[in-house]
Amino acid sequence: MIKKVAILANGGDVSGFNAVIRAIKRTAETHGIECYGYIDGYRGLVENNYIRLDGNPLANGILPKGGSIIGSSTNAIVFHYKVEHEDGTVTYEDLSDKCVQNVKEAGFDCVFTLGGDSTQKSARDLFLKGINTIGVPKTIDNDVACTDITFGYNTAVHVATEALDRLHTTAETHHRIMVLEVMGRFAGWIALESAISGGADVALIPEIPYDIEKAAEAIEKRKKRGKPFSVVVVSEGAHPINKEQTTHSAEGIDNEAGISVKFGGEGNRVAKKLQELTGLESRCTILGYMQRGGTPTAYDRVLSTKYGAKAMELALEGKFGVLTVIQNGKLRICSIRRSNRKQ
Ligand code: F6P
Repeated sequence: MIKKVAILANGGDVSGFNAVIRAIKRTAETHGIECYGYIDGYRGLVENNYIRLDGNPLANGILPKGGSIIGSSTNAIVFHYKVEHEDGTVTYEDLSDKCVQNVKEAGFDCVFTLGGDSTQKSARDLFLKGINTIGVPKTIDNDVACTDITFGYNTAVHVATEALDRLHTTAETHHRIMVLEVMGRFAGWIALESAISGGADVALIPEIPYDIEKAAEAIEKRKKRGKPFSVVVVSEGAHPINKEQTTHSAEGIDNEAGISVKFGGEGNRVAKKLQELTGLESRCTILGYMQRGGTPTAYDRVLSTKYGAKAMELALEGKFGVLTVIQNGKLRICSIRRSNRKQ
């Protein structure tokens, strides 16, 4: 019988983090289980920094609240953790044994890991080292394996759709091409679905390298049909055929995915090119972190609640080393075990 559980929110924030935290906490409370939250994701696990959530007013009324009441970390990989020494030197160390010890000493029977692929990879490796973990898939990019949808994604699409609606009217008024750059380093879900829901004329996604001439042709055709304006959505990770993605140096930033470059800039490149090819004035808007902040949509609140409640139920059943997922519209679980763990 489990008695104490902890939640860890990790990676870039999304709308819905708090809704998952609330669902886990409330299900825990119903069963008389103590519920804690690590501060700033895996960093809290390394530093043994956590707070109690059940009975804590900080955790009340959080369903519609953006961000994460227990913080999150985008650069804490416990197996390759950045340690800054007093003499100014920096080393990367495997602190996973320390994490295992911290969890055991705190007496947590389960750690819920709310995060994307990289977060779940660490959760799996910690599970293989003896910690009971249960993952909940998060990311606005919707690119976690095994699940049809991650929490936070729907809100991001909603924000991008609203931006497109607004760009549409200004595009039409000024006979311009309005380019909207959305997030998505390797996955074009936000671009694709917001393009459909926002009625965009062109969508460029990382999965299909684009030919700018073809995009310009589509815009020219609209011009000939009496529509001298267009709306184009571009994923930050989209790139032309035979060309690299647009990135810039992020020296000193070691993000969750372990990459030291930041994506972004493709929207401006596309706008410039389309202006040259079509003669229509073009402007680019970069939506950026607007997609991650603020209150979740009703869909994300429901999804996050289902995910959180299910995760806690799994802990009660003693099913660890799994990820809650949606497959063909149904709430299911997926094993994250790669091999038998050491007991
Ligand atoms: O993974 C989600 C994401 O929103 C990406 O689309 C984006 O490139 C990235 O996070 C940026 O995150 P940060 O600047 O916080 O590292």
